[in-house]
Amino acid sequence: MQLRVTCLPGDGIGPEVTSQAVRILQEVADGFGHDLKLDQKEIGGAALVKFGNPLPDATIQSCLASQAVLLGAVGSPAFDHNPRELRPEAGLLRLRQELGAFANLRPAVFYPALAACSPLREELVKGTDILIVRELLGGLYFGQPRSIEGTSGSRHAVNTMRYSEPEIERIARVAFKLANTRRRRLLSVDKSNVLECSRLWREVVTRIGGDFPDVQLSHMYVDSAAMALVLKPAQFDVILTENMFGDILSDQAGGVVGALGLLASASIGGPVGLYEPVHGSAPDIAGKGIANPLGAILSVAMMFRHTFQLPREAECVEAGVISVLKGGLRTPDLSRGGERTVTTDEMGEKIAEFVRLAANADTRVAR
Ligand code: IPM
Ligand code: MG
Repeated sequence: MQLRVTCLPGDGIGPEVTSQAVRILQEVADGFGHDLKLDQKEIGGAALVKFGNPLPDATIQSCLASQAVLLGAVGSPAFDHNPRELRPEAGLLRLRQELGAFANLRPAVFYPALAACSPLREELVKGTDILIVRELLGGLYFGQPRSIEGTSGSRHAVNTMRYSEPEIERIARVAFKLANTRRRRLLSVDKSNVLECSRLWREVVTRIGGDFPDVQLSHMYVDSAAMALVLKPAQFDVILTENMFGDILSDQAGGVVGALGLLASASIGGPVGLYEPVHGSAPDIAGKGIANPLGAILSVAMMFRHTFQLPREAECVEAGVISVLKGGLRTPDLSRGGERTVTTDEMGEKIAEFVRLAANADTRVAR
């Protein structure tokens, strides 16, 4: 099968982690007999430097001509004082919009090999396997009006949280369908004791729940969900929530399982899927070859599952990650108590090796 992918390395550690993710993508394609057509383009700060635009037209065109986009990270302190439309983040937000990627899936899974990384006692965190389904194109991130107005000293700022019924309905359906493929428990997180958006959210999610009688639906306010996520992370299956709450809870979920660097994401719902690690550009460690590529590599696994509908290929990548972690490979962010560390490149190389052997065995069995 042909796999048309656009890679957007972006800023900071983005290029380092995506180059390992592309290596795995290529290895899986070779091993399973697919034809990878890869294009590479600029986004974020890298695009601002070259074209004065965080999302140049050529980038959008390439992404729209692909089946999937693999993104590294955007953001750089060099642009902290730019106006909003000329910040690297604006490029990512526009890309999500251009791709119609309204459903952001962020799994947070506890790996027993990394028990030492979680700040929680193992008995609390073990078994944690959460899928956060974050609405990605609505709420405070995109709501109009938005502005900062007035003169210095007496300025005021406005952001608008806005959700329509169809927007809530479409993300709810995605979450219910995914819950049906898992443990069939869906927690919808809102703040309906205070916000109108959340009242509508809860009403619509409850109504859609009627179409999914096998999924057990519950609701929680975002503040108590934040606490429960730390106290009893293993109780969660699918968490459905709006854009901003999902942004916050997904980083927290990364902390709970021990490393944000491990977390992958898929942004789907439109014609082209967008796959990116949850972590940011980490300018403090960029260029040192020590960034954790696992979030980016696991995003490739999600790409195989959600865009290409190739679950065996996805499982192969995931098995590679579990295998190297069991084997004791640790980038510095995963190393505890003086464990020996490997570079970004060594981590990628070992997973590529695993994929090569596994794909070989797999295709032999299939024949
Ligand atoms: C994320 C990031 C982005 C977001 C930023 C970089 C715009 O934090 O993907 O979680 O807030 O959505
Ligand atoms: Mg975030």
